[in-house]
Amino acid sequence: MRLDKFICKSTELTRNEAKKLLKSGEVRVNGEVEKNPAMQVHENNSITVDGQMLTARTSRYFMLHKMADSICSNIDEIYPSVLNYLDVDKAFDLHIAGRLDADTTGLVLITDDGRWSHNVISPKKGCKKIYRVWLRNIIAEDKSEELIERFKQGIQLQGESSLTRPAILELVRDSDVDNEVLLTITEGKYHQVKRMFAAVGNRVIGLHREQIGAIKLTDLAPGEWRNLTEEEVALFS
Ligand code: URA
Repeated sequence: MRLDKFICKSTELTRNEAKKLLKSGEVRVNGEVEKNPAMQVHENNSITVDGQMLTARTSRYFMLHKMADSICSNIDEIYPSVLNYLDVDKAFDLHIAGRLDADTTGLVLITDDGRWSHNVISPKKGCKKIYRVWLRNIIAEDKSEELIERFKQGIQLQGESSLTRPAILELVRDSDVDNEVLLTITEGKYHQVKRMFAAVGNRVIGLHREQIGAIKLTDLAPGEWRNLTEEEVALFS
C-alpha cells in the first residue's frame, strides 16, 4: 500500500494532510526519514511519526440495501450518495464495489479494500451478479427459448466492440406479474442490464440487484446496512 494511504488508514488524517506530514520530514520508515507519498509499504515495515509507531486500521466491509433516488458515488449530486446511509466513522473514505444506477435498488457492497473490490468487479474474476428485472414488454412464451439463447451467446451493445459475456436469463414463472425476469451477469458495463434489454427491443422499467457471488440481500430493509461476516469477506479475499 502507498505510504500516504497507510498514514490515512492509521490516523485521522486526510490524504492531503498525510502528504503534508510526509513533506515535513516527521515520518520514518524503518528508521529512515521518508517523504515519498507513493512509496510502497507493508505491515512488516516500522512506520513512525515523532517516534510513535503507526498501525493501520483493518479494512472495513459492509452491505447496504440501496433505495431508489440515491447514488453510488463518493459525492452527493442530484441525489444523495448511499454513503450517507452508512452510520460509520469516515464513511466517505469507503467506496462501492460495483455501482448501481440512481433508480436501481438492491445489494451494494462497500469497502476501503481496493483489492477486494477488484475481485468483486473485475470480469476476469467471473463473480456473478443477479438482477431481478421488470420489463416493459412481456416476453412471449414462444420467443423465450430464443431470447435465453441470445443472452447466453452474448449481446452486442451499442458502442461496444465485443459481445457481452454469457448471461443467464430466467423467466420468473411464479411471479404475480408476468414481466419479471432474473438476469445473471459477470461484468458491469455502463447501464449494462438496461442496454442488454434495449438491444433486444425491450425496456427495463424496474431493476433490483439481489445477489453478488454468494452474498445475498436477504435480511435488510431498504436503507439498512450491516457489516459483512468473516465468511462473506473471505469470498473475495
Ligand atoms: N445494469 C444497469 O443497467 N443498471 C444498474 O444499476 C446495474 C446494472
